[in-house]
Amino acid sequence: MHYHAPVTEKVFWIGTNDRKTERFENYLPLPQGVAYNSYLINDEKTCIIDTVEFSTAGLFIEKIEGILKGKKLDYVIVNHMEPDHSGALLDLMKYYPDAKIIGNIITLRMIKAFFHDFDESKFITVKEGDTLDLGHHKLTFAMIPMVHWPESMVTYDITDKILFSNDAFGSFGTLDGGIFDDELNFNFYEDEMRRYYANIVGKFGPQVNTAINKLGGLEIKFICPSHGILWRRDINKVIQHFSNWANFTPEEEGVVIVYGTMYGTTAKMANVIARELSWNGIKNIRVYDASKTDHSFIISDIWKYKGLIIGSAAHNNDVYPPIFTLLHKLENYGLKNRFLGIFGNMLWSGGGVKGIKKFADALPGLEVIAEPVESKGEPTNEDQHKLEAIAKAMAERLIAERN
Ligand code: FEO
Repeated sequence: MHYHAPVTEKVFWIGTNDRKTERFENYLPLPQGVAYNSYLINDEKTCIIDTVEFSTAGLFIEKIEGILKGKKLDYVIVNHMEPDHSGALLDLMKYYPDAKIIGNIITLRMIKAFFHDFDESKFITVKEGDTLDLGHHKLTFAMIPMVHWPESMVTYDITDKILFSNDAFGSFGTLDGGIFDDELNFNFYEDEMRRYYANIVGKFGPQVNTAINKLGGLEIKFICPSHGILWRRDINKVIQHFSNWANFTPEEEGVVIVYGTMYGTTAKMANVIARELSWNGIKNIRVYDASKTDHSFIISDIWKYKGLIIGSAAHNNDVYPPIFTLLHKLENYGLKNRFLGIFGNMLWSGGGVKGIKKFADALPGLEVIAEPVESKGEPTNEDQHKLEAIAKAMAERLIAERN
């Protein structure tokens, strides 16, 4: 028993919804689950584009059998070898041993690394611009290296103008009922799509831009990514979102204040800054305790807003561990185009504020908008004035950017 999910007459969504896995890549929480999208083209020749994560392979095979009804499977295109898409490949090859596997030269290296007994004679190597004729449908391939693995490629259906876009334009969140953008409420997915982008693809903005420019010449009626919503009505909307995120362009005026505290002093300082921001006319203020909220959600909001204020208690002459993790990720992603405020707390030799300053020095695209504040123990009245000065400077800079 399966529901029918056609994309066009001969093209079907045969993906799976995973509401069971706690963490994507075993570290990013999945409160709204994730969909592993796979597609089947039931033409004279039959072809599957990417598979699903191993844990949902049983349902995946059932779906394929339900459509093919004993017909032979000719091809499996591997746009991406990360196991959330290649995990069911071995099972699929057991059910359909005559199917040829299609990928590029790096895909082959990866398949052999993952599956040591892989029979290389089953593999067809394609390169940029090669075509595959399925009868009615004609496919072609484009390489999008480092979006977000070196073997990443996309498949374009010339016949129905479908871009099978791999992880590009993907999102967290299961496909609950609808599969297309016009069947779903995007408001439900927007935050999860940004969190997906920032945490999975965020480091590779230049490569995303290259891919968007390369694919811009195609006539696209459908974008079918490997995760989340399939696009057919507002294609430009998802392209614009990914383009903005790749360029670190904030979505709206607002400030993320994130702090690490052991006994609450740094949290008090954060609240002073937040209140002063509000007094100065800023409405979107998100205050996060880095020990409580998973860093992936905080990073998503950092991608959304132009203002960022980071506070840390001193810990073993360094920044507090959850803040350390956050700074490490942001530095790794090359965060830029943000106003930055810095504060923290110490008692003897410090380390928190020093660590955040070091982070700021490493990222030239961050602009420190006021003198960092480091209180010794409980903040004094003078410290409070300096914290308020950070908030005022931030508000002034943001308001100056209003149109
Ligand atoms: Fe969805 Fe990079 O795997």
